[in-house]
Amino acid sequence: MKAVLCHAFGSPDDLTLEDAASPDVTAGAVKIRVRACGVNFPDVLIVQGLYQLKPPFPFSPGLEVAGDVIAVGAGISQPRVGDRVIATMMYGGFAEEVVVPAALTLPMPAEMTYQHGAGFPLVYGTAHLGLVHRAKLQAGETLLVLGAAGGVGLAAVELGTLLGARVIAAASTPEKLALARAYGATDTINYTSGNLRDRVKDLTSGTGADVIFDPVGGDLFDQAVRRIAWEGRYLVIGFASGRIPSLPANIALLKNASLVGLFWGAYLQRNPAVIRDSFTQLLNWYAAGELKPHIHKTFPLEEAPAALRELMERRALGKVLLTA
Ligand SMILES: NC(=O)c1ccc[n+]([C@@H]2O[C@H](COP(=O)([O-])OP(=O)(O)OC[C@H]3O[C@@H](n4cnc5c(N)ncnc54)[C@H](OP(=O)(O)O)[C@@H]3O)[C@@H](O)[C@H]2O)c1
Repeated sequence: MKAVLCHAFGSPDDLTLEDAASPDVTAGAVKIRVRACGVNFPDVLIVQGLYQLKPPFPFSPGLEVAGDVIAVGAGISQPRVGDRVIATMMYGGFAEEVVVPAALTLPMPAEMTYQHGAGFPLVYGTAHLGLVHRAKLQAGETLLVLGAAGGVGLAAVELGTLLGARVIAAASTPEKLALARAYGATDTINYTSGNLRDRVKDLTSGTGADVIFDPVGGDLFDQAVRRIAWEGRYLVIGFASGRIPSLPANIALLKNASLVGLFWGAYLQRNPAVIRDSFTQLLNWYAAGELKPHIHKTFPLEEAPAALRELMERRALGKVLLTA
């Protein structure tokens, strides 16, 4: 089988597609013939050595795949050989075959394509756990989403709308904002041509946003956190801008506000039941036609560096995928 390999931390351009040994299926695990893999910002970070996890070399990036089960380990009755599944992992997904614990697989609904399946768990899982489990977003509240046309950002716009919030989408280009509107945002802010802090104030008549979903960090955090509403929740999702910001603690005090972190992957180890419940809800919504993953571009495995560049260079709208 072939795998995209990282032999040393550096540029995504150094990744190579190589022959690799087919992984042995172990007890409690399943082997999957991968058909599509999701590309996520953590993949950009992990190959540069900038992610919290630093796997031993050589490793393949890739946190999510969709494909067919081709072997099952001892003790596994579900899924079965031939089943179509989605799987999540800490790394290793950019490959034609992967072995993952059966507990980290999800059955793919019959109507779901491999591409939708591979683009589903990370962005919807993160946005859903963040908004519902961590920030406790309520219908009627105002949700501000930064980076609103990126992978997790667009999922947050779509889910926030579904949950009954008023969604303000903030992003860097008119094209990105138009996509966020198509996914339910009723107001938009272009933060490259205007001041985010002032625009949120105007759009909320000075009260601010109840929940702020922030996958960007940096200067946008500094502006947005000053527009958190009374008893608001500021969701720390990521730092795509490259800078981890700091919070002046008086803002939390004065607004009775909370800074709420989310590391979705940690739930896989610490409390998988939370993730299972979240996916049950998300897949029900998908089956009911309520969620429509937006696929920006699909690349073959050998073009993994170009796929990662779409994210690094801020061109991606919604999901970027690899097909294996
Ligand atoms: N906490 C978790 O469990 C979790 C899970 C998944 C992802 N994440 C994090 O969430 C963030 C977004 O991930 P994603 O997969 O959705 O990525 P993505 O699709 O590339 O979206 C990132 C967005 O950030 C904005 N951005 C601002 N400055 C940027 C820069 N210098 N480089 C790249 N993008 C920049 C872009 O929007 P504009 O151009 O509109 O500004 C872009 O759409 C990442 O930091 C990732 O690590 C966290």
